[in-house]
Amino acid sequence: MPRVNLVNRIQDNGNVPGHVAIIMDGNGRWAKKRGKPRSSGHKAGVETVKAIVQSAAKVGVEILTLFTFSIENWKRPKAEISAIMKLLYEKTRSELDELKKNNVRLIATGRIDKLSITRRNALRHAIKETARNTGLVLNLALNYGGRTEILEAVKKIAGDVKHGRISPKRIDEELFSSYLYTKGIPDPDLLIRTSGEMRLSNFLLWQTSYTELYVTDVLWPDFSENDFYKAILDYQNRDRRFGELSTK
Ligand code: IPE
Ligand code: IPE
Ligand code: MG
Repeated sequence: MPRVNLVNRIQDNGNVPGHVAIIMDGNGRWAKKRGKPRSSGHKAGVETVKAIVQSAAKVGVEILTLFTFSIENWKRPKAEISAIMKLLYEKTRSELDELKKNNVRLIATGRIDKLSITRRNALRHAIKETARNTGLVLNLALNYGGRTEILEAVKKIAGDVKHGRISPKRIDEELFSSYLYTKGIPDPDLLIRTSGEMRLSNFLLWQTSYTELYVTDVLWPDFSENDFYKAILDYQNRDRRFGELSTK
């Protein structure tokens, strides 16, 4: 179906997911299939990011969270890590004008403070420069791990209890959420994972408790605007019950 029809259909349905999160997986396999180095898969993956950011804005998604680099990804070979970090650095600089032009607000979720100073500064600069934009929020999950995030929250809460700043009785879901990196960001409505893997890989463990899951075999560099719209249409047909009985 032509793209414009898909966009119209999604908007006519009305229930566009406010927050879409994506585990962008399959860059390495994409490169391997072509006999190319893994870094060329990551490069191709960046082109998909650009296309999907635009598509998300087009259909009216408010927040797009992209799993860009996990804490566990530090276990990869040094050369691959450098290639990913270099790409990230170059793109935060070269795409800044485009983000501004498209009214996209960039934010980041994860241990940004652990990135090298030049990369961190480039990212912080882009975040600051786009802070007043009112369109799509592009949230990069970077140096992110769900269990680390939860443990850090627990440690901060324990400290606040110890110093009498909060009473243990006050610890509820809302308060706990406010100690996470994602403070103030609503939970994802839809989580897409490309390249067929049926796992969360430590992504947004707390936040995805009632998120709708969508897994496609398409590898991230091949993931097209149409593939993205298909995932959203699928979401729009789901019956989100949150433990209650269906209202459909
Ligand atoms: C996702 O693609 C990108 C990152 C994890 C940074 P992969 O590099 O995991 O690709 P596969 O899973 O090996 O194909
Ligand atoms: C998840 O993909 C991390 C990112 C997409 C950044 P991985 O490729 O690291 O996940 P596993 O190792 O297959 O679980
Ligand atoms: Mg992978």
